[in-house]
Amino acid sequence: MKKQLKDFNLEGKRVLMRCDFNVPLDDHSNITDDIRIRSSLPSINYILEKGGSVILMSHLGRPDGEPDEEYSLIPVAKKLADLLNKEVVFADYDEVVNDQVKKMASRLLPGEVMLLQNTRFRKEETKNGAEFSKELASLGDIFVNDAFGTSHRAHASNVGVAKHLPSAVGFLIGKELDAIGGALSKPKRPFTAILGGAKVSDKIGVIENLINVADNILIGGGMAFTFIRAIGYPVGKSLLEEDKIDLAIELLKKADDKGMNIFLPQDFKVAQEFKDTSDFLTVSYKEIPDSYMGLDIGEKTIKLFESVLEGSQTVIWNGPMGVFEFDNFSQGTDAISKKLADLDIITIIGGGDSAAAVEKVGLADKMTHISTGGGATLEYMEGKVLPGIDAIEDLEEVS
Ligand code: 3PG
Repeated sequence: MKKQLKDFNLEGKRVLMRCDFNVPLDDHSNITDDIRIRSSLPSINYILEKGGSVILMSHLGRPDGEPDEEYSLIPVAKKLADLLNKEVVFADYDEVVNDQVKKMASRLLPGEVMLLQNTRFRKEETKNGAEFSKELASLGDIFVNDAFGTSHRAHASNVGVAKHLPSAVGFLIGKELDAIGGALSKPKRPFTAILGGAKVSDKIGVIENLINVADNILIGGGMAFTFIRAIGYPVGKSLLEEDKIDLAIELLKKADDKGMNIFLPQDFKVAQEFKDTSDFLTVSYKEIPDSYMGLDIGEKTIKLFESVLEGSQTVIWNGPMGVFEFDNFSQGTDAISKKLADLDIITIIGGGDSAAAVEKVGLADKMTHISTGGGATLEYMEGKVLPGIDAIEDLEEVS
């Protein structure tokens, strides 16, 4: 168990908090999805209510260790000020920490909020540089990590800095660990995982881990075709990872040995071209024509997957069932979102595309939990230790 915000007296303290404000921006630097910023508000407001001040830090994009206007945190500072309904002092210095920033931090009064410039403007950030970690730590009295989405990285602003200050996890990390960790460690059964997305290679670790804990795994998306090939059928021009066919055979065998169920699609919507407007056919998984590619699961598969979900108590979903960005091929993904929204069970949505899929059909608020992590959620589902969380002080257990 890690130390939490509530384990500290925050009165008069300057709290240095790492958030994941790596949000999508359009061509005019408008934030197109602010869920990661909104998810940081409970921790920020709690610190302010308890009489502390907050110094926030985050990366945005991958500016490669150099200042780059395109990745400035200015839009985040503005959005935060709107959401908090208070001034956010933006320390707009490309060095992230310098004498001026140190002065600004030292003058911060209880109830005030300050945001640093993009931590990846410094090349030491992604190398977990010791000097940069110390410079960051010099700004605060306590370090709080609430950047769940970055917790699979061991960088200066989430791991290095924790060596130099008393540390805690924030409420967002607590919520993510409770939801995803709870499902993986003591799920209400039957426990079903839905896995999709383009590649098997991205999900190998997840499948291996889930074979040990889930009752059912439903496989859709581009990755399904490597499994269809593994059971001996042609997949036409569909996505296929030739070098993962043997592994798919092995995974199916492992699942079988454990007595857990892997459900593969029974039919697909197939088209000759990767286009929204392509004419399509629905064919059995055994009969994908040579010149066609599978772009969505078919009706029979939707019914099969829905019936497994109806018999489940906990569901974790990572990866769309088809090319859901194309209206012609979003039916499978939309049907899964709708079914999960209808059921009165625990529904956990992995970040990235699956979160976008439930948001697209306006059902995000019907889910038990939508993770703010992409890569971090996947690594957590693989059973890996996340360095950003591991770096935080353990709570001493009272026996
Ligand atoms: C993410 O969006 O997954 C996190 O912010 C981490 O970003 P990164 O993959 O650039 O480290």
